[in-house]
Amino acid sequence: MIDSGKLKVVAAMTLAGALAACSQAESPAAGLAPAATSSSIELTAGIQDIMHDMIEPSAEFLWESVGVTETAEGVEEKQPRTDEEWAELRRHSIIIAESANLILMNGRHVVREGKLLDDHGTPGNLTAEQVEQAIAADRATFESFGRALHEVGVTFLKAAEKRDTKAIMDAGETMDEVCEGCHLKFWYPGQKIPAFPDQAPE
Ligand code: HEC
Repeated sequence: MIDSGKLKVVAAMTLAGALAACSQAESPAAGLAPAATSSSIELTAGIQDIMHDMIEPSAEFLWESVGVTETAEGVEEKQPRTDEEWAELRRHSIIIAESANLILMNGRHVVREGKLLDDHGTPGNLTAEQVEQAIAADRATFESFGRALHEVGVTFLKAAEKRDTKAIMDAGETMDEVCEGCHLKFWYPGQKIPAFPDQAPE
């Protein structure tokens, strides 16, 4: 005779075992942020990919969108003029704001499995593993830089919607500080960046 009680126990144990194996496979190495909790979210890119493929191109676009350039033909004041050009500025602002959220997602690793940072081995620069450890050791600071990047993306977005070129220039300066601040702490802490002349100690 089949003991249905026993069967249920076996079934429950099998399920528990499967779940444990599953969560073991997904759980990040010790010291990392916990994996994303919602099962519908699957993280693919590393912070490296988001930097290289989303943040860097959009930041470059925004930095170059407004300014004065001297060419052989004379001084050219660069700024978006057509509706399409303003829409592009808006699009890159949204990419900056939202990719800041992407890098803050729990379980997001620095690189995809088996990848190295482009500058792997450069003295003074952390390796991917060391970046991961540095973030785990001071996640609060990492998140505050991430939030600052999100905020500057929102500032660009509002400036784009108001077509305010001065606000775009100012946001560009802020963004530069945010990128550099996070990189100095979590990517190349060994680099000696020379102080700007106007910031040198008296
Ligand atoms: C919250 C922290 C943080 C902020 C803010 C941030 N970064 Fe990064 N970035 C990192 C870390 C950590 C790395 C090191 C991993 C790596 O090299 O990919 C990195 C790497 C990079 C890389 C190298 C990618 C590669 O191919 O290896 C580029 C380019 C980059 N960031 C651009 C930017 C720009 C531009 C900004 C500002 C608009 C910015 N980052 C803001 C954390 C940040």
